[in-house]
Amino acid sequence: MTKLLTVFGSTGQQGGSLIDYVLKHPELLRLYHLRGITRDVSKANAVALKERGVEIVQADLNDPASLVAAVSGSYAVFGVTNFWEQASQDIEIAQGKAIADASVAAGVSLLIWSSLPNITKISEGKLTAVKHFDGKAEVEEYIRTLPILSVFYMPGAYMQNYIAYMRPQPKGDGTYVLSQPTSPTAQVPMIDITDTGKYIAPILFDPAKYTGKRFTCATAFHTPLQLVEGWTKVTGKQVSYSSIDDDASAGAITPEMRAELKKSTGLMDDYSYYGPTGKKDLEWTHAQVKDKLTTWEEFVQANEPWFEGA
Ligand SMILES: NC(=O)c1ccc[n+]([C@@H]2O[C@H](COP(=O)([O-])OP(=O)(O)OC[C@H]3O[C@@H](n4cnc5c(N)ncnc54)[C@H](OP(=O)(O)O)[C@@H]3O)[C@@H](O)[C@H]2O)c1
Repeated sequence: MTKLLTVFGSTGQQGGSLIDYVLKHPELLRLYHLRGITRDVSKANAVALKERGVEIVQADLNDPASLVAAVSGSYAVFGVTNFWEQASQDIEIAQGKAIADASVAAGVSLLIWSSLPNITKISEGKLTAVKHFDGKAEVEEYIRTLPILSVFYMPGAYMQNYIAYMRPQPKGDGTYVLSQPTSPTAQVPMIDITDTGKYIAPILFDPAKYTGKRFTCATAFHTPLQLVEGWTKVTGKQVSYSSIDDDASAGAITPEMRAELKKSTGLMDDYSYYGPTGKKDLEWTHAQVKDKLTTWEEFVQANEPWFEGA
């Protein structure tokens, strides 16, 4: 008999990728059946998941009472929160703890939490306000105190950010510029977020092996200079990098989001996102993952056209 895997964020990037991976993986389908959580079961991608055989259940992370029923009967839960929806560390912590509490109350065996490093600790108190990291880390610390097997999925910077608000901008002379408040040689761990299932699969096959472990999830560390070289190589367009933040993406994101992202600058420049053990931790993670991970150049190629009509 298959066990139930309940996925929060099923209509989003991380949860949606995990569900897609399991649905396409015959060996995992012999072990698991799927439930996806959404606030709105009538939205198109929730309906599409239902048509693919996923049980779709309505629940709201801001309504802890709805969560016990949402996870009831599950062997495993994948928990993710969307910091950016309310841009509040307190709300994200409350939502994450509510997933954990509901999982324990419902007798769930395995909780996979979408976490991030505690930047206040990594920076030894120098960077204390990267709220979208520290809140997730606080939830991780809380989960570690609970009577449940737990494993931590820690995604790097999404390659998908560069299709959206970080897309290079035209300079008006036929060339393009990627502009960010990060030094050109900062080490940024890059993940194609549709690879999420590739990282979670080893955990689903052998939860006990990975109890308490952190998966550092990225294909590779890349500098901004390497990213622009990738665009130029694949698309033939000249893309340069400017580490002066000229607000090129100001129209694409809210001022609050921009302010929060700017706090990560020192993180990329001085602490490489995951801190001093990041490269070693990435190697360990790669040794666990069986599937080939998507490279930056493959991602650029797959998401053409980048510059048509820009
Ligand atoms: N972008 C990056 O580079 C990056 C890197 C590392 C980590 N992250 C983190 O990734 C997280 C976002 O994950 P994602 O990219 O998968 O998100 P996403 O694609 O924006 O989707 C958000 C998902 O969360 C669900 N959700 C949001 N609020 C909810 C609530 N109150 N109750 C129930 N479900 C709720 C949504 O479901 P419905 O709308 O269907 O209810 C949706 O499925 C953020 O916290 C961010 O900090 C991002």
